[in-house]
Amino acid sequence: MINNLLKTSLDKALSTIEKSRQLYSAGLKPVESGVITTVLNGIAKISGLPGVEFDELVKLPEDVYGIAFNIDPDEIGVVLLGDYSKLQAGDKAERTGRVMDVPVGDALIGRVLDPLGRPLDGRGPLNCSERLPLERMAPHIMDRAPVTEPLQTGIMVIDALIPVGMGQRELILGDRQTGKSAVAISTILNQRGKHVLCVYCAIGQRASAVAKVVAELREKGAMEYTIVLVTEGNDPSGLQYISAFAATSIAEYFMERGDDVLIVYDDLTNHARAYRELSLLLKRPPGREAFPGDIFYLHSRLLERSTHLRDELGGGSLTALPIIETQEQNISAYIPTNLISITDGQIYLSPTLFELGILPAVDIAQSVSRVGGKAQLRAYSSVTSSLKLDYVQFEELESFSRFGTRLDEASRKIINHGERIRECFKQDELFLFSAPEQLMVLLALAEGYFDTIALEKVHPAMVKVGNASLDLADADLVQRIVENKELSAADHDAMLQAADSAMKQFRDKQ
Ligand SMILES: Nc1ncnc2c1ncn2[C@@H]1O[C@H](COP(=O)(O)OP(=O)(O)OP(=O)(O)O)[C@@H](O)[C@H]1O
Ligand SMILES: [Mg+2]
Repeated sequence: MINNLLKTSLDKALSTIEKSRQLYSAGLKPVESGVITTVLNGIAKISGLPGVEFDELVKLPEDVYGIAFNIDPDEIGVVLLGDYSKLQAGDKAERTGRVMDVPVGDALIGRVLDPLGRPLDGRGPLNCSERLPLERMAPHIMDRAPVTEPLQTGIMVIDALIPVGMGQRELILGDRQTGKSAVAISTILNQRGKHVLCVYCAIGQRASAVAKVVAELREKGAMEYTIVLVTEGNDPSGLQYISAFAATSIAEYFMERGDDVLIVYDDLTNHARAYRELSLLLKRPPGREAFPGDIFYLHSRLLERSTHLRDELGGGSLTALPIIETQEQNISAYIPTNLISITDGQIYLSPTLFELGILPAVDIAQSVSRVGGKAQLRAYSSVTSSLKLDYVQFEELESFSRFGTRLDEASRKIINHGERIRECFKQDELFLFSAPEQLMVLLALAEGYFDTIALEKVHPAMVKVGNASLDLADADLVQRIVENKELSAADHDAMLQAADSAMKQFRDKQ
């Protein structure tokens, strides 16, 4: 009896203790906090956060966050992401237990934002319910499918000779002011009505340059399918560093949903510089050109995330057009060689061609697409195979003929033909060609139709020939080109006939 009484009161006491323990622990949230010891140039040193993990987000006063970058036994180095001017030594720093993430979703389409997910276009808040971490694993090799579909840039010289496929990484490189951004922007504009979502990531650019790009995209209706992520040159290096990763996570969200996505990084030179600055401030050992040793890993882990997913995973794709600025045409500098080896090809823009007014200034001999050829529309293959060879041969002969050498008939023919190929490949930056338009011109070129036209008339004749694709009697033919069907000899004849009649006026007036 006494035993029973004792047992029940013991049970009661125990359950009361358990209840109050649960209540007590529910209201308790352990916070690990430390103290800022120094703040300098976008970097803070913090002591007293022994449990912090690499890449963890650290909360600081004034609504500033930082990323734990260097973890030493007695202090950690944090890269600051916001306005750090009000932070000072002695301020409190707290662990958050999470990594940096970015809002993702349809609400971002048509918007201009910064890497922290703050809108920059004054069009109200971004209502995104989902977020993705900035650093994510690249898709596994078994999850990838080959690159098989073309991504038309609308620029004839690229689509014909250096084609880009969906899921490919194609580097755009060249000296300053050679039209690198123009190639990327044209490609975005050309995706109108093609169900390709675009992400333009401006890294460390002048605000006025970005404003110009956004205005252009908006004016041409391209913002309907484009997201612009911006960091300016005067933003903290930490923000510039994370922007490429934030843009990739945003693009990946759509790729994983099954969409085709195009991402432009403009440019990764600024990205590498921001990373170098952070690394030097954190006293990491500098290597070649003072870049840290893991700069190759930085860009390869970024660009490996672009791919074409298998159909079982939705079949989405992420095509990357990273841009790099070279100094004095030196494409064998550290960052350009790194990126050339990471990507599946490069489009090299030459300042010499730019000065000569050959625009876009694509240097065909130094440009290559390592996978795009397999993804090019079938109709191109039979037409373009000889053109590249003819053109490269012409360039060699041209430099030779500058020495005043007398040329034989055969060489003069090659030069005559090459000059016309070059004239046809000239294209104004906002003037885009569809695949059927390009094929009309390329066919006529390959057949030597332009060779008998005076050089100054080649360009207007080319535009006319391109437009003649609209007059093709067989409307089905245009459809077959776009649907990636092979063209028959009869199709070629029909196109050549249309090209011939379009050129008549230029021949007659000679
Ligand atoms: N195909 C083209 N036809 C006519 N003008 C062009 C063409 N491509 C580029 N341009 C002009 O050349 C200039 C430089 O172009 P762009 O800004 O694209 O070069 P960039 O290499 O990106 O320059 P930066 O090094 O400053 O980033 C611009 O004024 C642009 O309008
Ligand atoms: Mg540019």
